[in-house]
Amino acid sequence: MTIRASGLEDLVFATTRLSDVDGAAGKLSIAGRAVEELAGAYPIEHVAWLLFYGADPTADELARTRRALGQARARAHARTPALGDALDAPDAMDALRAGLAHITLPEVAGHDGLGAAFARCLELAGAIAAFSGAWAGRRARPGLAPIAPDPEAPHAADLARLVSGEPTTDARAPALDAYLVAVVDHGMNASTFAARVVASTASDDGSAVGAALGALKGRLHGGAPGPVLDMLDAVAVDGDAARWVAAALSRGERIMGMGHRVYRVRDPRAEVLERAVRLLERASGGAGVAARLSLARDVEAAAEAALAARHPERPLRANVEFYTAILLEALGVPRELFTATFAAARVFGWCAHVYEQRHAGKLIRPQSRFVAHAPLGAA
Ligand code: COA
Repeated sequence: MTIRASGLEDLVFATTRLSDVDGAAGKLSIAGRAVEELAGAYPIEHVAWLLFYGADPTADELARTRRALGQARARAHARTPALGDALDAPDAMDALRAGLAHITLPEVAGHDGLGAAFARCLELAGAIAAFSGAWAGRRARPGLAPIAPDPEAPHAADLARLVSGEPTTDARAPALDAYLVAVVDHGMNASTFAARVVASTASDDGSAVGAALGALKGRLHGGAPGPVLDMLDAVAVDGDAARWVAAALSRGERIMGMGHRVYRVRDPRAEVLERAVRLLERASGGAGVAARLSLARDVEAAAEAALAARHPERPLRANVEFYTAILLEALGVPRELFTATFAAARVFGWCAHVYEQRHAGKLIRPQSRFVAHAPLGAA
């Protein structure tokens, strides 16, 4: 029997039409279209449809998707009083898992002429947006009532308002939309794999998304952008990016927002997000955003140089989380909600993978080799 490397990096276990990551060339396509073509050009409702149905939605399909998402946000918000203290978890991701456990999906199967699987996806996506806003209301803005979703608003505009607590401006909604689309799906990443494992057991969509939330929370996956900002704050105090990075590496720490399992060049989504930050900066005339961006570039360059010197065999470049941190901060999202905002985007990809797994996959059940007295984790 072949014993795979413990990170399964060489294992291809499924075929998918949802996304393709070319790590050597630094290219990402979503439903067959380059991420640069989609992000910034289409709202998340459009790309969610594209993922599920493999074709652009008509104006009517787009409107129905938007309406179903808005109603899902409102339905989830209406349930928050019944959730008791479930949304008071110190970590927003735990609150989301607790909240989703109270969503009843069969009620909405096939809602408004949409396919049942897509309708369930929209219900989960709406709930993640509404519960993120409710969590922010309780933890990040204590004493203030949670903001009620606006079921008529486009998803990104409403999500921006729910998580930041600030009115959505003309520049904010497109910037958040660009983010949601850029990170909506990304090959067989850890949270998507977790969702597919659960789906492969014939469990329900909510359970699959719950497992994915748990995987996304980790700082080697979706938990990195908060620590990226902590690092930028620390470098701003130190005043010397190269010195700070060298000291962190000599303490054996990893530089958050750098390196990737698949990319060997700069993550193409970092470029897309940097572009969105620049648009936001121009629209707001914000000197704060410009200063942050310039600090980020300095830290990226210092980290890249230090990591290249340490690992000449393995290029470690900026990943999506690096510029996610700058963009979400510029959008007024509290850093404790960065990973939840990532989940608000990736949920569409998770659901589409759950659908694929259910239709084309089989029970995922690898094997292990028993080795008496092996050190923990050894293959
Ligand atoms: N900072 C410092 N060193 C890093 C590093 C980073 N960000 N990323 C990788 N390395 C080093 C590792 O320490 C390891 O060195 P070693 O062989 O001397 O022990 C080597 O590069 C290979 O790392 P490995 O853990 O095998 O790579 P991976 O493919 O399993 O990890 C990540 C990929 C993303 C988990 C890793 O790059 C990382 O931890 N990045 C920081 C967290 C982050 O930004 N996560 C978001 C990902 S989108």
